[in-house]
Amino acid sequence: MAESIKGLKRSMRCAEVTEEMIGSQVTLMGWVAKCRNKGGIVFVDMRDRTGIMQVIFEGGELGELAGTLRSEFCIAVTGTVQKRAGAVNENLKTGTMEVYASDLRILSKSETPPFHVLDGIETREELRLRYRYLDLRRPELQKKIMFRSRLVSLVREFMDAEGFLDIETPDLIGSTPEGARDYLVPSRVHPGSFYALPQSPQLFKQLLMCSGFDRYYQIARCFRDEDLRADRQPEFTQIDMELSFVEQDDVMDVNTRLLGFLLKRLPDVYKKLGFAPELAEAAERATEKIEAEGIEKMTWKTAMDLYGSDKPDLRFDMKITDVTDVVRGCGFAVFTGAIENGGMVRGLNVKGQGGMPRKKIDKLVETAKTYGAKGLAYIQLKEDGSMKSSFQKFMTEEEMKALIAAMNGEPGDLLLFAADRFKVVCASLGAIRLEMGEQLGLYDKNELCFVWITEFPLLEWSDEENRFMAMHHPFTMPVLSDFEHVDEDPGSVRAEAYDIVLNGTELGGGSVRIHMDDVQEKMLSVLGFSKERAEEQFGFLLRAFRYGVPPHAGLAYGLDRMAMIFTGSDSIRDVIAFPKVKDASDLMIDAPAPVDEKQLRELSISVDAEEEEKE
Ligand code: AMO
Ligand code: AMP
Repeated sequence: MAESIKGLKRSMRCAEVTEEMIGSQVTLMGWVAKCRNKGGIVFVDMRDRTGIMQVIFEGGELGELAGTLRSEFCIAVTGTVQKRAGAVNENLKTGTMEVYASDLRILSKSETPPFHVLDGIETREELRLRYRYLDLRRPELQKKIMFRSRLVSLVREFMDAEGFLDIETPDLIGSTPEGARDYLVPSRVHPGSFYALPQSPQLFKQLLMCSGFDRYYQIARCFRDEDLRADRQPEFTQIDMELSFVEQDDVMDVNTRLLGFLLKRLPDVYKKLGFAPELAEAAERATEKIEAEGIEKMTWKTAMDLYGSDKPDLRFDMKITDVTDVVRGCGFAVFTGAIENGGMVRGLNVKGQGGMPRKKIDKLVETAKTYGAKGLAYIQLKEDGSMKSSFQKFMTEEEMKALIAAMNGEPGDLLLFAADRFKVVCASLGAIRLEMGEQLGLYDKNELCFVWITEFPLLEWSDEENRFMAMHHPFTMPVLSDFEHVDEDPGSVRAEAYDIVLNGTELGGGSVRIHMDDVQEKMLSVLGFSKERAEEQFGFLLRAFRYGVPPHAGLAYGLDRMAMIFTGSDSIRDVIAFPKVKDASDLMIDAPAPVDEKQLRELSISVDAEEEEKE
């Protein structure tokens, strides 16, 4: 019963019909979003990627055929645009009009869909992902995917104008150490050998600098076999760039301008795609701020000290206060014990929450514990001037007073303290700060607060590996004056590395790369690479650097994360057409899946039968 499209031309999309077209004939093609039969007159809401148009079928054979329409049938309608006879629909772009149909073709029918193709549906995400092609028909997702497409063209427009060359790098490469886990691809031609999929184009973009391309960019797919989260997918996309003959500030400058350019153009994109006006307003405010004062720069140390995180959410204040010196030698053994062990005591003042019920405070203690804290001490300052505290009995009145004063505590405030090592204090207070900020609604969700985080540590101690590892990667340039002391105090060496953070999410990161052979050699030895192993794993890069490597630096954004935040989404899955779920599988195509014996034989691979059983 499906009909061909032969001889029929679509004149425009549903919501591209304007009031100027009233009286003229149009041909629309799309899907049945809704249909109602009111006493022989059939009203159909027809949907395509631009929106909805109401179509009316009245009487005769046409009315009868229209009566057979069901949700998600794919149809072509020819008719005359007219002013809506019934009430205007304020929610639709086309709400003042309708199309009075003279012809209907059912291009293909639809089975009853497993869920309503509607915004705001409560259907389980697994079901939606299994039928992702239907899920993607929902206006909300259509908008987000179209937004992403526009975002990419804007990025390209800027990069082209700035003289960046778009150069592709290979996806079948070799495994490199020090990153996340690789996805491996077996080679048929070389039994027992494997390619790895790139975790990023890092080494290739550095080689392109060696080749003289001096400004490179790429919208690049990256693959990392890591545990998934709301802002992490096993395959994701980077806006990747690298520049020669530059310093750190040059990279930050060009990227501050890129972000300013995008934000300036976004309101128009939001408007065309029908996003909530709050997003456009927030983008306008952010543009103004960037144009007036650029993007704030904050050192890693300051970010950790004040916000307990290297990706601080600056949409609200609530800073951490160090009270180590205030409580040194006080009567509370938890505090003094932590200090004696080389730790510290820091606190948060949650304004106006002195009356928080005990149960809620206990929940905060639980949060702190998930970040490794042994507890969370508190003082509730009551409005009537009294107080309640979990450690008052260990302290003198003077000690309490001094502590409250150091925290700027006022009647009605809740003071929370963590005593531990730097890492644990930062992680737990940082998490509680975020929890409080969200729970108490301390910020406007749409606000866009950018910050550059600079001066990251070069090395990070790994308890697992029992050695120092590169925080960014082994090719990141140290601050040279610090690097002289790397043998005595590896943890204190800073790197010429920077992250761009937006609303508490790491949007992008990069660094100046090492182009001096003596520094590179030393760095690799600090990381524990023997000459042979370094040669084996990235000999090609080290070799290339022997032929006149230019000083270079770069950065990569997570495009998915950028699109997520710019569209006000909670998960990057919303801005990826075909995302994977938590266990890294694709529910729609059922991947990963076992393969034929024959395919395995060709690859000289045998699968452990026991492992197969477990599946
Ligand atoms: P990095 O590893 O910081 O740097 O990655 C850059 C940005 O990519 C995004 N990102 C992710 N997005 C979604 N899912 C993931 N699993 C995921 N992992 C990372 C983040 C991150 O900021 N080659 C360097 C960049 C450079 O030095 O130039 C690199 O890959 O937004
Ligand atoms: P306790 O003496 O164990 O009952 O602890 C008294 C208070 O100190 C309780 O509120 C604990 O949650 C808190 N506490 C315990 N360990 C720490 C710590 N490392 N940092 C901050 N508070 C702690």
